[in-house]
Amino acid sequence: MNYSDKQCLGWMDHLAEADFVIVDDFISNELFENIMEFFHKMEESDKLKKAGIGAQQNFQVKAEIRGDFIYWLDENRDLELAPFFELMDELTQKLKRFCYLSLSGSEFHIAKYPAGSFYRKHLDQFSERANRQITVLIYLNNNWQKGDGGELMIYKDGEEIEIEPIAKRLLLFKSDVIEHEVLTTNVPRYSLTGWLLHKPSGAGYIIG
Ligand code: OGA
Ligand code: NI
Repeated sequence: MNYSDKQCLGWMDHLAEADFVIVDDFISNELFENIMEFFHKMEESDKLKKAGIGAQQNFQVKAEIRGDFIYWLDENRDLELAPFFELMDELTQKLKRFCYLSLSGSEFHIAKYPAGSFYRKHLDQFSERANRQITVLIYLNNNWQKGDGGELMIYKDGEEIEIEPIAKRLLLFKSDVIEHEVLTTNVPRYSLTGWLLHKPSGAGYIIG
């Protein structure tokens, strides 16, 4: 990762105090191109599926809540994305070191919001599975302009913070406290979204 500990410390301070942090130009042009090439390949081979809400048995597709199409990434299968996974490993190490977070595991998907779609206000926790600690968003919209829509609204302490989904921007927030919403997009909107997971306390209690 091409960032000094000092820079990272600044982001982590912001995350700790404000519950979110935005880092512009977080990924290189090369990584951006790499991710978009993969994204378009998945789109063309019809791998993106309608996203739902709820985990496992409670999974439901609800277009009135969210209208994006997603593809879950797998580090062992999606080998073209090795540089991305490497970057996320480094970011996780920094979060553990500077924020004293107990993290273990992660999950990522690419997401496409077709024109006219949105994701209503929500928290990134499933009631039946509360192990998401940090939400990671990397926006992938080259030449995004006002009027394109698809801004992310963060609701915090009675305030609304609007974040433009511009290419190469990173957003981190605390998954269990930040309520957020994707406003209706007027153009196809691309992002890579993930969650850094809590390490369960007393690991070893899971049997069978
Ligand atoms: C989500 C989400 C926000 C965004 O996938 O849970 O809120 O800006 N995404 O894409
Ligand atoms: Ni969300």
